[in-house]
Amino acid sequence: MHQVRFVSNYDSSLNNGFSQTTRHTTLSPRIYNTSPEPHPRLALLVNQSYDLATAHTDTYWETVVDNNRSITDTPANEMVMKAYHHDALTTPAGGQCIPFNQVYTTTQELNYIAQAIAQGQIAGDGAFTEQCQTWLEQAFKSSKALLTHSCTAALEMAIILADIQPGDEVIMPSYTFVSTANAVVLRGGIPVFVDIRPDTLNLDETLIEAAITPRTKAIIPVHYAGVSADMTAINALAQQYGLLVIEDAAQGFQAQYKGQPVGSWGDMAAFSFHATKNIVSGEGGALLLNHPELIQRAEIIWEKGTNRKQFFRGEVDKYTWVDVGSSYLPSELVAAFLWAQLEQAAEITRRRRKLWQRYHQTFAALELQRQVCRPSIPAECEPNAHIYYLLVDGPQTRMRVLADLKQQGVQATFHYVPLHTAPAGRKYGRTHGTLRVTEDICDRIVRLPLSAALTTADVDYVIGQVLQALRP
Ligand SMILES: Cc1ncc(COP(=O)(O)O)c(C=O)c1O
Repeated sequence: MHQVRFVSNYDSSLNNGFSQTTRHTTLSPRIYNTSPEPHPRLALLVNQSYDLATAHTDTYWETVVDNNRSITDTPANEMVMKAYHHDALTTPAGGQCIPFNQVYTTTQELNYIAQAIAQGQIAGDGAFTEQCQTWLEQAFKSSKALLTHSCTAALEMAIILADIQPGDEVIMPSYTFVSTANAVVLRGGIPVFVDIRPDTLNLDETLIEAAITPRTKAIIPVHYAGVSADMTAINALAQQYGLLVIEDAAQGFQAQYKGQPVGSWGDMAAFSFHATKNIVSGEGGALLLNHPELIQRAEIIWEKGTNRKQFFRGEVDKYTWVDVGSSYLPSELVAAFLWAQLEQAAEITRRRRKLWQRYHQTFAALELQRQVCRPSIPAECEPNAHIYYLLVDGPQTRMRVLADLKQQGVQATFHYVPLHTAPAGRKYGRTHGTLRVTEDICDRIVRLPLSAALTTADVDYVIGQVLQALRP
């Protein structure tokens, strides 16, 4: 096991100005507000905070930023948590700062965007879209890949393709992002929330069968943190009961299960290329279809419910409205950005895995001392290092650790508010059995910064601060 390096004097890196070490630079709101042209690095950090606030952490952050109206009827520790996040999201980090997520770019994104512009095709379904889709089809041995403007969009398409009707039930974890459930609710379906496994935080496959009713149409496993759900067990149940499997692989790009890519196991799979993911295009996603018979309808849904794709292939002499659909395809500018990332996908994953391992090896000692639980990776899973998290002993410790880390410039965070406890989850979904593991985990999880743009020194700094924060 390697030695943890405590970095004691990062501020000395200020001497170099905003160079490689800028993320450790002292960032104060005063500097940001008074500078007529804030350094891009500062602006980036502020944007990232905003991004986390609006999109990707959990549903009640929005309420928090909105106002404090619900605080009076909230239990005490939840209030503190809310206050913590309000603070974290509305001010740029003070002191040394290692962002929770930092976008890693290759050198080619702008070149490819310029090419798309020069080719005169910036709407969707052009050459870059084709190139990305072919790449995905080959990588996943998939019948068809369709780029979308988000994983949310890909999930919505999948639910239309699954022909979910009002009252139909879809089994999923409650410990997931809202989009998994929203896609179902938008078609009048009912999300049925089942508990997760304590080791992988994925849908507990042993609880699924008891949740199946005559109205059940599909199962949506989520590959949390880029660790695959038990696809063998889930597919077997789906086959036995005639259900569709839609993989929510938003976090699972380049993860593997039994040597095959996550996303190639279900009938369909939805990926995210949101800025917080491993491979990014700002907003972005893809729907993978693993059966050829799904392709024709999927192309129609993708193109606003029209047979435009068939028209361009010369299969029909005019195109018209033939089915439900929406505008799910991204512009070529997004596809061009994504192409640069796909070219470097293996390298990006390699860098993330290296940092993930560094956290994992170092925290083994803490786990032995029973201070934390580390992610547990089943032998058949090869993760993509999307998230590194620790489970601490309870909400009070979690709050203290997050606050201490923030104080030391480490942007750590948590999620999700389990969907079955959220207002919309209570209104539109139902639970099957108790969701004890879900409720326990969501109070104890601490997610640490992880990005291909971080260095091993950054990770060592985070490790040092976590050890300090957990010191008895
Ligand atoms: C499990 C899961 N599903 C769906 C989504 C939605 O992805 P997107 O932002 O690309 O719509 C996310 C995003 O974080 C997610 O984590």
